[in-house]
Amino acid sequence: MPDTHRDAKTATLSFGDKTLELPMLTPTAGPDVIDIRKLYSQGGVFTYDPGFTSTASCDSTITYIDGDKGELLHRGYPIDQLAEKSHFLEVCYLLLYGDLPTADQLEDFESRVTSHTMLHEQMQYFFRGFRRDAHPMATMVGVVGAMSAFYHDSTDIHDPWQREVATIRLIAKMPTIAAWAYKYHIGQPFIYPRNDLDYAANFLHMCFAVPAETYNVNPIIARAMDRIFTLHADHEQNASTSTVRLASSSGANPFACIAAGIACLWGPAHGGANQACLEMLREIGSPNRIPEFIERAKDKDDPFRLMGFGHRVYKNFDPRARVMKQSADEVLELLGIENNPTLQVAKELEAIALKDDYFVEKKLYPNVDFYSGIILDAIGFPTSMFTPIFALARTVGWVSQWKEMIADPQLKIGRPRQLYVGATSRDYVDVENR
Ligand code: CMC
Repeated sequence: MPDTHRDAKTATLSFGDKTLELPMLTPTAGPDVIDIRKLYSQGGVFTYDPGFTSTASCDSTITYIDGDKGELLHRGYPIDQLAEKSHFLEVCYLLLYGDLPTADQLEDFESRVTSHTMLHEQMQYFFRGFRRDAHPMATMVGVVGAMSAFYHDSTDIHDPWQREVATIRLIAKMPTIAAWAYKYHIGQPFIYPRNDLDYAANFLHMCFAVPAETYNVNPIIARAMDRIFTLHADHEQNASTSTVRLASSSGANPFACIAAGIACLWGPAHGGANQACLEMLREIGSPNRIPEFIERAKDKDDPFRLMGFGHRVYKNFDPRARVMKQSADEVLELLGIENNPTLQVAKELEAIALKDDYFVEKKLYPNVDFYSGIILDAIGFPTSMFTPIFALARTVGWVSQWKEMIADPQLKIGRPRQLYVGATSRDYVDVENR
């Protein structure tokens, strides 16, 4: 923790016969933070915060979210400006290195990423070991974890050069891995990357081209794909990013840590929500069934939730959802499917939920996953590919956060405490006496 953020202010905590003065830290944006690092050594107590709703687990300079304002900044730049004016690889550079690149820096970065798009040929056999009907996320967790076995020359986290090579490899190879997980799943031949295409266009090519005929990437679809990547690039200390940080805190290699992040992202409360959301919209099927699903979402005895709605941090709106909705309109118009029934259900569901007292009071708004599935479906991806695409895009965020953490001289292994409520010490009883 840099001392520059240490404030003269303190917080006073009294309990029992003790009074502690706890230092306060002032961020560049966001609420002040009470530094409780010495709480146990000085006060002999822990804090209790399941789900980390009030706990900052690290300091970071990468991404800032103001949930009440609905603001998302990467290195200070608003996400809507980046989505409109920038492109994914430039945003990758910004997240990784802290500033927007000059033209030369961008060219160099793009060329480094492009020259690492191929996978070690032996990895094909690794893919072939999976069942064809495996979910592409299952394949991705396995293959990305296996990168540590294929690229051990970039697993020494103490060597800055190896860290940089691992960074470039992960960003460059993730589209190839996601596309090959898909190709394997649908029984088509793997398509090798084409380095004359940009990042998003190359991904579409690897997913949709077949050896038997020419595939021309539509530039507007490629732009929409690139925007989806940009909107998912990073999101500060969410569950998968915190998983990557926790895994890396032990000194594990970057490929293993990113595989851990992919595993965490898979869950329907996190990255898996995009698949779950489109499946829900299809299940609703027509606007007249919306009230029934709204009632289910409000029913405490029904585990059903409106997928693509709500967020731990955004309590006003998710700025990514706004851009995503606009992109959905553009892509569907381009493809001549503006009257897509799923989009109609989504728009109507959003309008009804935003007027409903339950959603208003709990500040539940559409999140990034509400419209992304509609675009991905229109582009031609099956729902099983939605979360792998999220993982592909989030890789740069995970890697940026990992790099930041590893470079911190005060790095400590992450090791939470617990509130133990189990049995106290008792003597073993032989089986015949139980
Ligand atoms: N539908 C119905 N009720 C909801 C929903 C929803 N989608 N989300 C939250 N609530 C209710 C919840 O039941 C709770 O009510 P009560 O206070 O009466 O118990 C209240 O709102 C607060 O919910 P919470 O679960 O305590 O909030 P959280 O911050 O722990 O969870 C969330 C955030 C995103 C997991 C949750 O809103 C959710 O499950 N949403 C649906 C899944 C989803 O769309 N996830 C994608 C998140 S954005 C992409 C990403 O970052 O991965």
